[in-house]
Amino acid sequence: MHSIRPMSQEDLAQVAAIQGPDSPWKPENYLLFDAWVLVAGEVAGFLVTRSVYLDEEFEILNLAVGVEHRRKGYARLLLETAIQRHPGIWFLEVRTTNEPAIELYKSLSFKESGMRKDYYQNPTEDGIVMVRKA
Ligand SMILES: CC(C)(COP(=O)(O)OP(=O)(O)OC[C@H]1O[C@@H](n2cnc3c(N)ncnc32)[C@H](O)[C@@H]1OP(=O)(O)O)[C@@H](O)C(=O)NCCC(=O)NCCS
Repeated sequence: MHSIRPMSQEDLAQVAAIQGPDSPWKPENYLLFDAWVLVAGEVAGFLVTRSVYLDEEFEILNLAVGVEHRRKGYARLLLETAIQRHPGIWFLEVRTTNEPAIELYKSLSFKESGMRKDYYQNPTEDGIVMVRKA
């Protein structure tokens, strides 16, 4: 059994554990955005999004699923739920080497729309911009 609910203060330690120590994000800042967790006995994954233009354009800020919970469809479910909630245009950036994430986004009809040179640090890497039309 699993469910999706808004992220709360009590989830932050588990969210921090899922994202690992190398993330540039502070988990407490997720609460400033539209942040959701998927719970399957414990917090198994999370998704952070924001509206970037009226109620029409949205951005995925971060998404991660705990290693032991991967390939169970949880990331797909988090994304599908967010897109259903806000059926507009969606944007994201992803590391050029992050094949699992790129495959996930393509399977949800995101298309590559541009490249941001050296967008990421530690390690430095280009970011692919992906867009999903409404
Ligand atoms: C990317 C990530 C969120 C995917 O989470 P997940 O819950 O394992 O993904 P799902 O089970 O929902 O997978 C849905 C689809 O994505 C694709 N996919 C997921 N992991 C994949 C992998 N390792 N290799 C290839 N395709 C993959 C597949 O198309 C998959 O469908 P399928 O299982 O029917 O083949 C997870 O690997 C993760 O947390 N990675 C580290 C953080 C990260 O990179 N976040 C993205 C930042 S932009």
